Amino acid sequence: MKIMTVVGARPQFIKEAVVSKQLRIKHTEILVHTGQHYDYNMSDSFFDELDIPKPDYNLGISGGSHAEMTAKMLVALEETMIKEKPDWVCVYGDTNSTLAAALSAAKLHIPICHVEAGIRTHCLSNPEEINRVCTDHVSTLLLAATQSSMDDIKREGLTDRGVFVGDPMFDAFEHYKNKVGRDEIKLTLFNGATEGVPREYYYLTCHREENTDNAKLSQILDAAEKMDAPVIYPVHPRNRSKIIDLNQKNGYNNLIFTEPVGYLESICLVNNAKKIVTDSGGLQREAFFAGKQCVTILDFVCWPETMIDNRNQLAKPDSDSILECLSKEQKVDSDYMPFGDGHAAEHIINAIEEHC
Ligand code: UD1
Ligand code: UDP
Repeated sequence: MKIMTVVGARPQFIKEAVVSKQLRIKHTEILVHTGQHYDYNMSDSFFDELDIPKPDYNLGISGGSHAEMTAKMLVALEETMIKEKPDWVCVYGDTNSTLAAALSAAKLHIPICHVEAGIRTHCLSNPEEINRVCTDHVSTLLLAATQSSMDDIKREGLTDRGVFVGDPMFDAFEHYKNKVGRDEIKLTLFNGATEGVPREYYYLTCHREENTDNAKLSQILDAAEKMDAPVIYPVHPRNRSKIIDLNQKNGYNNLIFTEPVGYLESICLVNNAKKIVTDSGGLQREAFFAGKQCVTILDFVCWPETMIDNRNQLAKPDSDSILECLSKEQKVDSDYMPFGDGHAAEHIINAIEEHC
């Protein structure tokens, strides 16, 4: 079979790293990068570190409003699909690249496999919710990472298309978690200087559209400033200039602002952190895989299975709320693993083959 995979954003490269290796055993993959993420440390570094094949196409589309970005991708992806005539199109998650690829393929009557289907936050002001609801409803195969995703697939009357496969992020975490040690990591600061990882630290990431206004960001940084160990914060380019401004104004002493780190470095930082504070879907799960306590700064739950025994708690973008959640103790049941058996990539390929 000829399967076209469409990726564009950091978390999709990680999933692609594990799925592509399985896919290429028996099938031909045409890899399309929309260009949504394009800085070296948001894109090429993942291809290099994780040995992901070079994309057959890079559409070079990024930035602009949601509509601008999605519309340009729709046109370019349609052309690419008409030219390549794939048997299937495979998409991951809930970004604008996901939505554009799913819509283009659906209109061309190409079967679509949606990996990480069925996640619902029930919050339509969240741009990713719109992407995932639309993608699921035009997809042929809905591959769920967890049982609660399968439940949402059923609730929306899509049971016949749903298959539980597990989470390829868990496969990736298990495969790559010991490849880099903490002493090998050099954090790159904004002025280009590098420094090592402190013995004790919190790991913070924050990039959601919901958390990018100055008032919310300064509350989050205020909480970090009060934590009882340094806070490592690799800054997503969306927030870079705002963080530089806030740092100039407030002169934070407890925060280590760095350029985005590579994936191997990121999961090593998760594994060795005291606790994690984030608004990232990926980081929430990685904290769970590592048995590290996580505080998620969002108004909605993305991964309900992580929200037990204080392992992951929702906080408001408010200093007191974040610190209060961090003060709680978690309980870890090491037998509880709702994200599959670590072989999601194989189950994904099997599911596609069985649907042919
Ligand atoms: C996107 C996804 C989000 C995902 C995140 C992963 C959508 C709607 N959102 O959000 O679901 O969690 O990726 O990180 O698709 N930028 C750069 N360099 C880059 C990448 C982005 O400077 O390499 C800038 C862009 O110019 C843009 C801003 O960052 O102005 C935001 O990028 P965008 O891709 O629109 O959204 P993300 O916040 O990355
Ligand atoms: N990540 C990374 N470098 C960083 C920050 C995050 O490699 O500087 C990894 C992180 O470990 C996780 C993934 O990027 O696996 C999550 O991506 P992101 O938070 O951008 O997107 P989301 O998961 O929220 O869609």
